[in-house]
Amino acid sequence: MLDIGKTATWLLRRLDPETAHELAIHSIAHGLAGRGRPDHSALRTDVLGMSFPNPIGLAAGFDKNARAVRGLASLGFGFVETGTVTPRPQSGNPRPRLFRLTEDRAIINRMGFNSCGIDRFCQNLAPLFHPDRKGHVQPASAPLGINLGINKTDADPLVDYPALVGRTKSYASYITINLSSPNTPGLRDLQAADMLGRLLEAIQTAHPDRPPLLVKLAPDLGDRAYAPILQTAIDGGADGLILTNTTLARPTSLRSPHKAETGGLSGAPLAERARDVLGLVSQLNARRLCLISSGGIETGRDVLDRLRMGADLVQVYTAFIYEGPGLLTRLKQELLQEMSRAGIRSLATLRR
Ligand SMILES: Cc1cc2nc3c(=O)[nH]c(=O)nc-3n(C[C@H](O)[C@H](O)[C@H](O)COP(=O)(O)O)c2cc1C
Repeated sequence: MLDIGKTATWLLRRLDPETAHELAIHSIAHGLAGRGRPDHSALRTDVLGMSFPNPIGLAAGFDKNARAVRGLASLGFGFVETGTVTPRPQSGNPRPRLFRLTEDRAIINRMGFNSCGIDRFCQNLAPLFHPDRKGHVQPASAPLGINLGINKTDADPLVDYPALVGRTKSYASYITINLSSPNTPGLRDLQAADMLGRLLEAIQTAHPDRPPLLVKLAPDLGDRAYAPILQTAIDGGADGLILTNTTLARPTSLRSPHKAETGGLSGAPLAERARDVLGLVSQLNARRLCLISSGGIETGRDVLDRLRMGADLVQVYTAFIYEGPGLLTRLKQELLQEMSRAGIRSLATLRR
């Protein structure tokens, strides 16, 4: 029998990457990409004061403009992070800016925060919510993360991030401030502990009623940079960290013709560094902040490995591009098998 999901993914991989992306968003938004089955209760995870049907989320950057949130959640993600959204609309870098490194199971992107801007973003989200519900509402069966960024020009982070939190706080189950995209000049300087402290204070002062707040970090900081950032995040009242965004590094193992393109590298070649950063932050963290691990996750074994290393949740992006919605069924089956092999009856017991 013809598997529609697999055939569509096969076809999409033959198109120019951005056209394929546009088509994928469109079909998911219109419910044409299928639905996942209800999750096994052993995968349920309670973190950040809410319940996740499974620990595998979609990382930011896939649905930048919140056009397919409901469809994505119904594919079987445990949570969906939409954005990065910027205050004003901007078109991002000139094309081509998205490259598949198929031989390396990787992607290089220099999208540069192409965004419809916060006004349109909120218009896209609003119909998903019942008008008189307030607070940490969920548009589908899975929590919704909203990832915030700043414009390339005329940005004032201490004003812009709090303003964006204000615009999105009634929609988001959690909010991520993205300080780690390599494609917006100066953005990653905001990760420096003193600047991060000021940002968190500005957000906290303006929005004490905000949903949980996470900070997304780059993998390219020196190992010793993570301890002061973690401490500042804790002192500043953040609830979690996302480790990590894409890397500017180019491992010598890369084989694809696109390996020298400028931009952030994601997928399999990022896995080792993302895992190392999780390891070092997790040790220092001692479970004070929620940790979400992102970078090169491709198998159920990878998921369990990150959870056992101290991640509360994980996110995928590149593997979803290569495999399509079938990725979720496979990851969850493999995760359950790995848990059974390791004698782990439920993820809830793992986190105790
Ligand atoms: C095409 C593309 C666009 C991305 N855009 C964003 C973004 O807008 N905001 C963000 O925080 N991360 C963005 N990311 C990073 C992903 O969210 C994720 O952290 C990273 O790709 C590592 O996960 P992976 O190896 O599973 O892809 C993007 C990644 C890719 C491949």
